[in-house]
Amino acid sequence: MGVAFPYQRTYGLDMTVLELLNWSTHCLEKNQIENSRLNAELLLARSLDLSREGLYMNLRGPLQKGDKEAFERLIQRRISGEPLQYILEHQEFWSIDLKVDPRVLIPRPETELLVEQSLRILSESPFKRKPFILEIGTGSGAIAIAMAKERKDVFLVATDLSREAILLAKENARSAGVQSQIEFVSGDLFEPFCVSKKQGLFDLILSNPPYLHRHEIQTLAKEVKDYEPMIALDGGEDGLEFYRRIISRVPFYLRPGGWLLLEVGQGQNPRVTELMEETGYFFHPESVPDLAGIERVVKAQKK
Ligand SMILES: C[S@@+](CC[C@H](N)C(=O)[O-])C[C@H]1O[C@@H](n2cnc3c(N)ncnc32)[C@H](O)[C@@H]1O
Repeated sequence: MGVAFPYQRTYGLDMTVLELLNWSTHCLEKNQIENSRLNAELLLARSLDLSREGLYMNLRGPLQKGDKEAFERLIQRRISGEPLQYILEHQEFWSIDLKVDPRVLIPRPETELLVEQSLRILSESPFKRKPFILEIGTGSGAIAIAMAKERKDVFLVATDLSREAILLAKENARSAGVQSQIEFVSGDLFEPFCVSKKQGLFDLILSNPPYLHRHEIQTLAKEVKDYEPMIALDGGEDGLEFYRRIISRVPFYLRPGGWLLLEVGQGQNPRVTELMEETGYFFHPESVPDLAGIERVVKAQKK
């Protein structure tokens, strides 16, 4: 459904960039869009094909024919609830520019903790050969790409059930110049692999799986529930379905002395810790808080 966009009533068609920016900010604000000024700036910069700095250099300049209409379409998408990142097709993660669109979850800043903890383990563990890492549920490829960028000596396999996500993750890996370090595979959790319990295969297994309670999803912001892929959100009836499935199978795929690191939702770390302990394969798991003090990563070393 269209939204009221009031500039034409107030201004003539010869308005400046600044006037358009002010009016669009007002319009977003009236429609309860958070950070309305920043949203307006980024969307206007995009529609005028300028950087944000370029936009500021041109504030007094006139608009070209068609500029306002193109911009209005972007503003309308934002007011309808489409995430800014999907409109801009861009999200930064670990200082890497990633393309994002509705095929993948928008990577969240708190997920950088999983990368940070994995890098710490790698730097503290002596490996005789190239560390071999599995990421389950790679989405945009954010975690695997960040790991590959930081450590030229690692090789990763990144999986996702969504073939569409794998296509985008491959594109992101190519843009980041790390495609030779990551093999992307589509499949259900460990389905693409076949290894014996004794050998194990990977030194590190990482995942930020879907972890929302199914019934909670409808209570989320429109931006999330109507736009982000359900396959990336739905963690089953109690939000723990993927932890159960991953933890019960992980010992078959992890080398002795290897590590499992999982991102968890708020309040899920005690149950995820129990699930790891119940297998009998791990030393005592540790929870690590994010910057907001929420226990965000649970990690454990295989005996
Ligand atoms: C919470 S998202 C995480 C995406 C990305 N790793 C990140 O942190 O931004 C979970 C991902 O798991 C994938 N997924 C869901 N079910 C899966 C399954 N059975 N096997 C493999 N991947 C799955 C989804 O497609 C989604 O990309």
